[in-house]
Amino acid sequence: MLKESWSLVEEHQDKVAGYFYARMFLSRPDLRDLFPVHMDVQRSRLLSAIVTAVQTLEDPEKFDDYLRGLGRDHRKFHVEPDHYEVVGGALIEAMRAYAGEQWGVEYDQAWADAYAVIAARMMAGAEADTNPPYWYAEVVSHERRAKDIAVFTVQPMQQLEFRAGQYLSLECPKFQPRLWRTYSVANAPRRDNTLEFHVRALGAGWVSSSLVRRLQVGDMVKLAAPMGTMNLDRRSTRDAVFIAGGTGLAPIKSLLEELTRYNRTRWVHVFFGARNREDLYDLADLNRLAARYPWLSVVTACSDDPTFPGEQGNISEVVARYGPWNDHDFFVSGSGPMVKATLKTLAELQVPSIRIRYDSFSEMG
Ligand SMILES: Cc1cc2nc3c(=O)[nH]c(=O)nc-3n(C[C@H](O)[C@H](O)[C@H](O)COP(=O)(O)OP(=O)(O)OC[C@H]3O[C@@H](n4cnc5c(N)ncnc54)[C@H](O)[C@@H]3O)c2cc1C
Ligand code: HEM
Repeated sequence: MLKESWSLVEEHQDKVAGYFYARMFLSRPDLRDLFPVHMDVQRSRLLSAIVTAVQTLEDPEKFDDYLRGLGRDHRKFHVEPDHYEVVGGALIEAMRAYAGEQWGVEYDQAWADAYAVIAARMMAGAEADTNPPYWYAEVVSHERRAKDIAVFTVQPMQQLEFRAGQYLSLECPKFQPRLWRTYSVANAPRRDNTLEFHVRALGAGWVSSSLVRRLQVGDMVKLAAPMGTMNLDRRSTRDAVFIAGGTGLAPIKSLLEELTRYNRTRWVHVFFGARNREDLYDLADLNRLAARYPWLSVVTACSDDPTFPGEQGNISEVVARYGPWNDHDFFVSGSGPMVKATLKTLAELQVPSIRIRYDSFSEMG
């Protein structure tokens, strides 16, 4: 019934979104401050998120962890329990307004019930969280490593626990208030609690271009709770292969840093690819690590720099030139297309998917 009723309005999604926000902000003007300044860009982010959730999470029991996590994460948007009812009401009214006569009371009930179950789990997750909703952190170093790439370090004001390989969402209130994006931490947990990030400015990308081109030492950013499961299994004795495209190197560096603290027995192969040599922005540090740790080897590749002295081609192809990779743990990180191509190569090499962990920075298409 949920899918059937959504199909009545799906075609007018933009208008439904417009109505949904108007309804919400009319009944609770204070909620406008929770959303980004430029709603035109972001417009249907929340609406489509809720519609997808309501339609796909038919069995909330199964998605309990995810929903509790989502609720916890919503604390960074300043969402309070009483907001859920307002948003749920606006959602149903917006759909009803655009569905016309075909809308029935049974649809109202189906959406209200499904939404209520999901909202309850999100609220329970938020309520149970003992962490702060977000952490303030001061930028303590900022370095442009390439035209579009910056490496910067922040110092959180309070202890922020994470595991090597995780990512967290970040807001830059000075330049892009209320826009949160996820970035991988590029170091293993440190005693001084600092976190390093590697960011590529994507064309007109709102947050990434500010982080690369405008952020300065002394600025404050906000960070939310760490997420992600691309972690090392300390019990594994298999050798490891790390495959990174561009700033996909960030979580790989974090895992490498962790390995430098305890590894004596596992061979580790890093494959680092970019379009041109300038974008191999962290090569000096990788080479320094390889010189220091005999178990580490680094292969670099450029896909669009014919005189580059390393490997030529996409990193997904380059991995296949090495090997054999019969008994290795794989970690893959980079843009959606890079991750997709690499997973395809690994499937062709008959690497079991259970040995592969990956983080994709964008849709895999
Ligand atoms: C788990 C995870 C970890 C991540 N870690 C990192 C990281 O460590 N370092 C890092 O640099 N990024 C990382 N990202 C990507 C990051 O979250 C943002 O998506 C990215 O910085 C773009 O945000 P933006 O606000 O600048 O762009 P948006 O404002 O969201 O997008 C602006 C425009 O850029 C275009 N655009 C968006 N993505 C791409 C793309 N890939 N290629 C070309 N055009 C694009 C869009 O079409 C849009 O028109 C990670 C993403 C995920 C999901
Ligand atoms: C069933 C209930 C809800 C679900 C399933 C849901 C889901 C989501 C998801 C998946 C996102 C995208 C997260 C991201 O991009 O990081 C999101 C964003 C957001 N949500 Fe919710 N949400 C719900 C209720 C609410 C409520 C009650 C509020 C309060 C007003 C709220 C406010 C926001 C805000 C402000 C954003 C960021 C939007 C933006 O960047 O444009 N959400 N939500």
